[in-house]
Amino acid sequence: MHEKSVLDPDRIPRHVAIIMDGNGRWAKQRSLPRIMGHKAGTETVKNIVRTARELNLEVLTLYAFSTENWKRPSLEVQGLMTLLKSYLKSQLQDMLENNISLRCSGEIEKLPADVRKILLEVIQETAGNAEEDQSMILNLALSYGGRSEIVRAARIMAEKCLSGRFGPEDFSENLFASHLYTAGLPDPDLLIRTGGESRLSNFLLWQLSYAELYITETMWPDFSPERFIEALVDFQSRERRFGRTSEQLQAE
Ligand code: FPP
Repeated sequence: MHEKSVLDPDRIPRHVAIIMDGNGRWAKQRSLPRIMGHKAGTETVKNIVRTARELNLEVLTLYAFSTENWKRPSLEVQGLMTLLKSYLKSQLQDMLENNISLRCSGEIEKLPADVRKILLEVIQETAGNAEEDQSMILNLALSYGGRSEIVRAARIMAEKCLSGRFGPEDFSENLFASHLYTAGLPDPDLLIRTGGESRLSNFLLWQLSYAELYITETMWPDFSPERFIEALVDFQSRERRFGRTSEQLQAE
């Protein structure tokens, strides 16, 4: 079992993104309906958010619902929306007490009105927390798709060009990034995917360019704080070269 003390506090990743996969298989292994896997997964969300906050991460992004997830059976979609709503309601106080600021990435206009309402309320109520020195941003990816985020940014920039706010010559990586949902956030240093699949599933396609990838067979409902710390220990053992050589890094 891993304790927090095994981590180097000076090399905690600023931003961790997680693809929370395996709820359905976890439920199936126990002959339970899929929604019970999502329910258990919601408890994992609470544990991992708490651990991330204790470890002083700046940003935790969780892939809670993809644009493709709308194609799931409507009962499962409804169940996920209900879980999300009760999660947000029940965690507001905790977020306020622990200086957690909620943000979201995705086409939230597609969410049911009641879910959107509570989501926007929690975002607004916790916005002040982001100003605090010691705070964490919890970024929920909801009705999120990486390609659609990139197209949306391109559209907004094209509109600004047409209205004369800036011209094509002003385009840069920084300007583009500032039109993504994650504007102002550091890029993820580490992407964790539970459930064993080795794919990106349209998640943060722009932002993950230099992220370290960590894939674990553990299903999301079983992803404990100890497993999370294991992933961070693994991250700390990596050498991040950003295109340079090992020798160059050592010389610095
Ligand atoms: C993937 O598992 C998981 C999802 C599509 C939803 C994730 C949602 C939660 C963890 C709970 C609600 C979220 C919050 C933030 C409270 P899967 O169903 O694809 O699993 P499978 O690959 O085993 O079928």
